[in-house]
Parts: sequence; structure tokens; C-alpha cells
Amino acid sequence: HRHLLGIEGLSPLDIAALLDRADEAVDISRQVEKKRSTLRGRTQINLFFEPSTRTQSSFELAGKRLGADVMNMSVASSSVKKGETLIDTAATLNAMRPDIIVVRHHEAGAVHLLARKVDCAVVNAGDGAHEHPTQALLDALTIRRNKGRIEGLAVAICGDVLHSRVARSNIILLQAMGARVRVIGPSTLLPPGIARFGVEVFTDMRAGLRDVDIVMMLRLQRERMNGSFVPSVKEYFRYFGLDGDKLRQARPDALVMHPGPMNRGVEIASDVADGAQSLIKEQVEMGVAVRMAVLEALAMHLPNA
Ligand code: CP
Repeated sequence: HRHLLGIEGLSPLDIAALLDRADEAVDISRQVEKKRSTLRGRTQINLFFEPSTRTQSSFELAGKRLGADVMNMSVASSSVKKGETLIDTAATLNAMRPDIIVVRHHEAGAVHLLARKVDCAVVNAGDGAHEHPTQALLDALTIRRNKGRIEGLAVAICGDVLHSRVARSNIILLQAMGARVRVIGPSTLLPPGIARFGVEVFTDMRAGLRDVDIVMMLRLQRERMNGSFVPSVKEYFRYFGLDGDKLRQARPDALVMHPGPMNRGVEIASDVADGAQSLIKEQVEMGVAVRMAVLEALAMHLPNA
């Protein structure tokens, strides 16, 4: 593959190969000397039109650990603010001859459009409510390392599924790898017709969590709600927030995940987020490893590689 635009289009073999490569990157990242030379001489541009803590910093660290020159484009102080379009911005950066551009954009499909306009490899770091492929890969890596497998596990994806690119990428990946996926949320925050994707749908949190192996919480994305339906935080937490009591419906060895950023007391209770069943910090560590794996895999298809 020349780009990574989504989980859609990756085969189970592609996914497993990336996870194997990421396991090696975890070992590298735990050594004192973390630097490799796979991307030496290559230029990586991180172009983030939306805020990010985890994704941007881990792509930067991943590129640097592989020896690339990494440039973080500061959109907030760029000519985007003067009205330059996505296409013109892409063409401008393309003229500087980068090898890889990592893009986050608020419009679904913007990253695909950009990939058609540039000569280099493009990685989707989140496009609107469409896909966030490296998040799904890092979640899969975290699950596989803790459970030893993905196949046959019951995974509940909970909360604001409607606005979530993380949910979409995870549903595609987990099903491709043989997991059984449930989605749980208020009907107003579930995409209409989601059952068509082969997931089990629950609007009752306790019923949905019964006997699952993995509980994946999602952030309530109030910034994408455009005033339509914004639930009260107190009521949302009461019915859909993950607290110790609701978590007891899951298997005793169930593990809790959240892609971040978390709203403590909205979709997840603090004691659960920081508790013994939580993998949230490990997910962040896996984020760097997965991004190293993705950059390395793309590097093999760069010209003159
Ligand atoms: N999970 C995730 O994408 O986090 P950031 O928005 O901080 O990158």
C-alpha cells in the first residue's frame, strides 16, 4: 500500500503484519537507545487541522525514532487562516518534496482528496467522523498483547458512536480479525442502520456490557453536535458513564480502554480510568509503536527505497 487512508482496504494479513512490526517497535522504544535509521534522509510533515495531543506527538516521536526529519506544520499560524484551501496547502507542501504527510482534518474524505493531489505517502490521522486507522491499530495491538488474541473476543464500543471515527475504524478492524463487536449508546448517538455492519446494538449499558472481554469507551464529542442533541452531562454519566458498578456486568477479567482525550465524570469515572482493569496508559505507549510500524511499512514503498 502506498498510503494508509483507512482500515477499510486492509486485509487481516496486512493488519497482523503491522501488529507484528509494532511489537518489534515496542521493544525498540523500551531500549535506552531508541533511534533507528529506516527513515534516514526522509522528510515527514505532520499537518493537523484539528487539535491533537496523542496522535501528533506520537507520530513525531515515531518519525524521529526511525531517523526521519519531522516537521510539525502549525495550521493555527499558517496561511490556512488567510483562506488558503486544503488543495493549495497540499500543493504548496508537496512542492517541498516531503516523503510522508500525516494529516488530520475535520472533514470526512479530506485525507483521500489530499492523497490524490500529492506525490508522497499520506497517512490518515483522523478525518471527520470517517476513520482513524492508527488508533484502531494501536487498540488492536493493546488487546492482542493483553489477551493474546483478538479472534473470538467480545468487545463493547460505548457512547457517542455517531460522531466517532475511532468507533468506525475499530468496528472494521475488530470484525476483520474475528472479534464480536457490540455498540452501546443512547439511540440519538448511534448511527442509523448501524446493525447493517454486523454489530449487536444496545441502548442499555448494563445489558450491553454483560460478559464482554473488552470495554472501549468513547468521548462525548459535544463539539460535533451542532446544537442538535446535546445530552446533559449528569444524565449521560448516570446512564452511559462507565463506573465500577456497570463494569461488574463485564467478565471479571475484562479490560477497559479509552482513546483519549477523556472526560472524567462524563463517559468514564476517574476510579475506573485509573483502576487495575484500565489499559489507557498502555494504549498511549502502543500508539508510538504502531505509528513506527506504519511509517516503516510505507517507507518500503517510497521511491528509491
Ligand atoms: N486518540 C486521539 O486521537 O487523541 P488526540 O486527539 O489527542 O490525538
